Amino acid sequence: MEKRMITTEYTEEDQHIEGSLRPQTLAEYIGQSRSKEMLKVYIEAAKSRGESLDHVLLYGPPGLGKTTLAGIIANEMGVNMKITSGPAIEKPGEMAAILNNLQDGDVLFVDEIHRLNRQVEEVLYPAMEDFAIDIVIGKGASARSIRLDLPKFTLVGATTRAGLLTAPLRDRFGVVERLDFYTVPELHAILMRSADVLGVKIDTEGAREIARRSRGTPRLANRFLKRVRDFAQVKYSGVITAEVARAALDVLDVDPVGLDRADRNILYTMIEKFGGGPVGPEAVAAAIGEDVGTLMDVYEPYLVQIGFILRTPRGRAVSEDAYRHLGLPVPERES
Ligand SMILES: Nc1ncnc2c1ncn2[C@@H]1O[C@H](COP(=O)(O)OP(=O)(O)OP(=O)(O)O)[C@@H](O)[C@H]1O
Ligand SMILES: [Mg+2]
Repeated sequence: MEKRMITTEYTEEDQHIEGSLRPQTLAEYIGQSRSKEMLKVYIEAAKSRGESLDHVLLYGPPGLGKTTLAGIIANEMGVNMKITSGPAIEKPGEMAAILNNLQDGDVLFVDEIHRLNRQVEEVLYPAMEDFAIDIVIGKGASARSIRLDLPKFTLVGATTRAGLLTAPLRDRFGVVERLDFYTVPELHAILMRSADVLGVKIDTEGAREIARRSRGTPRLANRFLKRVRDFAQVKYSGVITAEVARAALDVLDVDPVGLDRADRNILYTMIEKFGGGPVGPEAVAAAIGEDVGTLMDVYEPYLVQIGFILRTPRGRAVSEDAYRHLGLPVPERES
């Protein structure tokens, strides 16, 4: 499939804006109130005991603020954060070295933690549980294992695919938080804050229009804000109003509920090739030429969230709302 404007994956373009837009404290972090409340309690408790925070696993679709939240955790704990990612660490020795270089209390952020290979992951088991690693010294008959103590660090893992985490790893996290899609008012607040930081002129209806089309995702909201601003400067007076936002996002092929061509293609494919379902995700993925993991983690969650795709025991089905949204007659189904 072609590259999407609406991709929720991190792109090079985001690099320039995300740094300045990342909230630094829990108070600045908008939405996710359940996760925020929990973390606030755990952070305060750990601080008052003078201990490191329990290991935290954050999961949810891309662009919802996992990396941001990891940074905030370190910041609120008043410690440093080291950042790495699952695919970046190839050998157990590399993980051991990273762990050994941490300071007491430090946060180690491991992005895409489901992609750690098995041997590297096994280094984490004693490290997370006992703050120790076992290393083998010598070879053959004289080889012996010694235990090395580690600083009391906090592992913060992030993943878009919690289902792929092994049970022994998942069980070692004391705190497991799922991030949800943001509501339109939450995205509205994020947009107003971002506009302020970036010096973009926007009115409240303009922000609402972008919020509605950002598919629950702050990363998209911020990216759309930038694109719509360019549009406002070149074609309008420079202020983002509802009219400007609508016109700009229409040009970008983002529809009023945030769907783009790729989303609509999924719905059309399910309708035309599979009678609207129920159909297995593998078959849908094959029909649109995407891998099933991407379909389930990147495309499907939002379509499910807004009720356009229904997960049934017999597979996925297109909802009546989706037919109406696409302007198609709702089929008669035997129930
Ligand atoms: N709660 C929030 N309040 C304000 N801005 C937010 C919030 N969450 C995320 N953002 C903005 O969205 C951008 C993307 O967030 P972030 O990089 O943390 O997402 P992520 O979940 O780590 O994504 P990925 O899965 O791709 O790594 C951030 O730069 C930040 O500006
Ligand atoms: Mg991230």
